[in-house]
Amino acid sequence: MAKRTIVAMPGDGIGKAVMAEAIRVLDAAGFDAEYVNGDIGWEFWCKEGNPLPDRTIELLKKHKIALFGAITSKPKDKATAELSPELQGKGYQYYSPIVSMRQMFDLDICQRPCRTFKGNPLNFIRRGKGGAIDEPVIDTMIFRQNTEGLYGGVEWTNPPDNVYDALMTHPKFKENFAWCPRPELAVSTRIFTRKYTTRIVKAAFEYAKEKGFKTVTVCEKPNVIRETSGMMLKVAQEMAKNEYPDIRVQDVNIDAQMMWLTKNPETYNVIVAGNMFGDIVSDGFAGLVGGLGFACSANIGPEVAVFEPTHGSAPKYADYPVSIVNPIAMVMSACMMLDHIGEGQMAERIRKAIAAVVEEGKVLAYDMLKLSGSPDVISQGAASTRQMADAIIEKL
Ligand code: NAI
Ligand code: MG
Repeated sequence: MAKRTIVAMPGDGIGKAVMAEAIRVLDAAGFDAEYVNGDIGWEFWCKEGNPLPDRTIELLKKHKIALFGAITSKPKDKATAELSPELQGKGYQYYSPIVSMRQMFDLDICQRPCRTFKGNPLNFIRRGKGGAIDEPVIDTMIFRQNTEGLYGGVEWTNPPDNVYDALMTHPKFKENFAWCPRPELAVSTRIFTRKYTTRIVKAAFEYAKEKGFKTVTVCEKPNVIRETSGMMLKVAQEMAKNEYPDIRVQDVNIDAQMMWLTKNPETYNVIVAGNMFGDIVSDGFAGLVGGLGFACSANIGPEVAVFEPTHGSAPKYADYPVSIVNPIAMVMSACMMLDHIGEGQMAERIRKAIAAVVEEGKVLAYDMLKLSGSPDVISQGAASTRQMADAIIEKL
């Protein structure tokens, strides 16, 4: 019997192609696991009216560790139109299965590492002294609160009486928004709780301590968003003082951080942020180290953890006779899974194999060749999804 059972949720589109390759790489690295398939995504919304079927939830409850590819989401009217005819008009509502999964299993700690691979043609460069080309080595881990904040889903258009009345008790609301007819009012809340703010900040400090980094950057906007951003900054400052005297807290506003990205990204090693700012800043950093083909992530809760590339299902590329997308983001997400379950050495071996392939520069996915995606990229010298995985396996 295999040592572990992993729930593999390929999802839609290219999720299927990258999942298959990641599992091949794990097998080649000697990871002793059995994979059970978890249904998720658009197909199940259309057929069953539920993109996250109960049987998948049961598998996650039972096995606790999962790999996830990507899903397709579509706007409300399209979702309703594509629902199978016998389910139409029965009150089914589409919700993103990823957001549901994060909230259901309390996957509150999102980690998004952004690290430079030497020789990656997609690496960020800037002008150095005397006009020389300067290629900073980036090693940043972003800790994003994954379940609260602006993505918490507590929102209204035309808010009901009790909500509206409560808003009217706030002097700023009364002063600045009372003029607006209620049906024309949309409100999305940004809720932070001290419990979950503390958990994400703690995760960032623990990582900094483990890796020997001396600074944790809080990437929020406490001078304007005083209550929520202010809470995160305060929690971090107290934690540094009481528990991590050797680690300094740096307070950088999200807007300023996006500017610093192109100036000195190599000086940020540990960043912590709320849900939306964490989403933004992690995409920003990912862009410096190769973009979507390289961006991996972990969603970690008290019991369950799900590992996924940050890219989506790229439907345009889903039905190519030979898949062209870069599997590295998915493979590195699998490495994060290995780290999480105590197989860090195996993860490191796979990351070294990826680094060797990238540095050698002989096998390049279409994104690394800066081609726009089409089936022709193969004849232009791009490696297919499978060939890239083969190259990694060969280095292993
Ligand atoms: P996307 O990430 O699927 O694709 C955007 C573009 O990025 C692609 O056209 C392609 O050029 C490039 N790309 C993506 N993955 C790549 C890879 N592995 N290698 C090389 N290039 C890659 O985002 P898009 O087009 O905005 O959304 C497509 C669908 O995916 C939508 O239905 C969206 O809702 C969903 N989505 C799902 C996510 C998830 O499952 N976590 C995240 C983002 C979008
Ligand atoms: Mg994003």
